[in-house]
Amino acid sequence: MKVNWDEFEDADAFLDEVKIGWHQRGDGFFGPSGEAAAVWAEVFAVYASSAVSGGVPDGSTGTLLRTSELRVDWTAALVEEIRRSLARLVSPFQDHDGLHAEFRILLDLPSAFGVASGFVEPSDEFSDPPYRLDASISPNGAARIQLGGTELQSSARQVTLANSDGALPLRCGPFELRLSVWNRDAGSLKELADGSETVKSLRSTLDDIAGISVYRDGFKVLPYGERGDDWLGLDLRRVQSPTRRVSNNQVVGYVSISRDHNPELLDQTNREGFVETDAVGDLRSAVRQLLAILENERYASRPRRTRKQRGGLLDRVDLTELRDAIAEAIPRDERIKAIVTDLQRELDERDERVGEVLARYHRLATLGQLVDRVIHELGQPLAAIRQASTLAAEDLDAWDPKELNDVGESMAKSLRKRVNVILKQVGVAGDVVRRIAPLGSRRRGRPLEYEIEEAIRDAVELLSDEAKKVGAKIVLPDTRTMVTIDGAELQEVLVNLLTNSLHWLKRVDRSERVIAFEVERNSDGSVALTIEDSGPGVPESDREMIFEPYFTTREDGVGLGLSIAGEIVTDYYGGELELLPPGPLGGARFRATMRRRVGSG
Ligand SMILES: Nc1ncnc2c1ncn2[C@@H]1O[C@H](COP(=O)(O)OP(=O)(O)OP(=O)(O)O)[C@@H](O)[C@H]1O
Ligand SMILES: [Mg+2]
Repeated sequence: MKVNWDEFEDADAFLDEVKIGWHQRGDGFFGPSGEAAAVWAEVFAVYASSAVSGGVPDGSTGTLLRTSELRVDWTAALVEEIRRSLARLVSPFQDHDGLHAEFRILLDLPSAFGVASGFVEPSDEFSDPPYRLDASISPNGAARIQLGGTELQSSARQVTLANSDGALPLRCGPFELRLSVWNRDAGSLKELADGSETVKSLRSTLDDIAGISVYRDGFKVLPYGERGDDWLGLDLRRVQSPTRRVSNNQVVGYVSISRDHNPELLDQTNREGFVETDAVGDLRSAVRQLLAILENERYASRPRRTRKQRGGLLDRVDLTELRDAIAEAIPRDERIKAIVTDLQRELDERDERVGEVLARYHRLATLGQLVDRVIHELGQPLAAIRQASTLAAEDLDAWDPKELNDVGESMAKSLRKRVNVILKQVGVAGDVVRRIAPLGSRRRGRPLEYEIEEAIRDAVELLSDEAKKVGAKIVLPDTRTMVTIDGAELQEVLVNLLTNSLHWLKRVDRSERVIAFEVERNSDGSVALTIEDSGPGVPESDREMIFEPYFTTREDGVGLGLSIAGEIVTDYYGGELELLPPGPLGGARFRATMRRRVGSG
């Protein structure tokens, strides 16, 4: 086939008028002693010594592209660019199994570009990442993970990934994943730069190579991971949590799949990526879950900015020393003295303005957190209200007035139950609002005397649909502990803890999903409420952070549940919410100790 690019340049011609010449050649050309084989042999002979791992291909299949009669001269920069974009086509997994080893790209250039000639290897720029994760994911979602990099201690772990509906197994099938994350701040890049590179040039190289690519049997599936393609929605996700999450332009990642093992990942006919199916949703979700693990490790390992450093930003820039030095060196020059004085005044003014702007942002940030909290805590009661009133309406619709005498009593009972739920949840919702209005001064709900075990049963009842879906066995306490506390407040604590357990239980086998509650009155009168699950538990590295607002390892999490629950236990009951070492169920075990308002009467 022969393409003359000049003809594409003719502005008057339509695309279908451009002629592309091709003709078919037979065995004589392509056969073992044909012309094509001779070309391959000649090329391979030259580059045999630069052969990449896996050896030189035999040349029996392949595509040869030759360019001649150039209109623009190649420059070193252009060669570099073409080499880099070709490198993106080569799967970095080729050393992994023999499978992909046959796909090679060979660049045969005029001698002036000698060093760039040879087999194109996957990009080795940025080959030593500060944070790196390698994972091998089996069809049932079990992931073997290896963490490492120059900034992370290397470690291995196993997790089970849930699919995008939170169930098992993954519909996308097994895959391999490699992720590297880079810091883009000037300080980190400066450390990477060698002589010829600048922070700016490194950033632009990173822009070029960043993205998460997908290879099927060693071939790149477009457009995943092309420059600017953000198929995992990383940038959007980062908006929620900019210090913890990474953006698309600081991740270099590779996913390896195969036609045989991932039959559900089908290409669109226009080669614009996969057909959107559940399988693709699962792949996205699984890669995001794995990235979240790396992000959390990175977050935990990065030095936090301390308050002192932040104060330093607003320290006045003081020019006194400079003024004194000038006064000593050139005592008579009033002009320079005046300039320095003006400069000092100007700096002071700006300093003040920066302070004002920061204070304004700080207020906004606080407000933002408040809004997040309201949304977080109102969601549950509103869902319960919606459900109870829908069911009540259905009950009413099914109610034939003529049969009133027969079914009236049971109808009334069932309606009464639903209305009770509605009233209670309206109370919870109202309480959330009351607590933050007027801003800051929290007013409490009215404490009632009742059994804490009843509050637990209520919370379990409220989430019974979800519990049924998950198939969790819930063990209720057999104690009876009278307290005088506000039920709505306690319910928020319980619902947050229970929601978490229900979520994480999905990571273990359905037959093993258990949640157990326990209530105990201590000798000092305080009450300890324990909830334990048989889920995966909290990894050692996260233990310190889970109570921090916005810390989350859930793909869909906000990270507010535990911080709100903890705050309620502290503020209202003078106690604390703690994560205990795993107990008999082996998963997460939380204990809320309540010291105030827990007497009976
Ligand atoms: N039962 C549990 N098992 C394992 N990990 C848990 C459990 N409960 C909490 N965690 C960990 O603590 C983190 C913080 O929990 P928290 O409830 O504060 O936020 P979240 O559940 O991630 O999001 P949301 O704001 O929607 O509640 C979770 O992301 C998870 O890593
Ligand atoms: Mg939660």
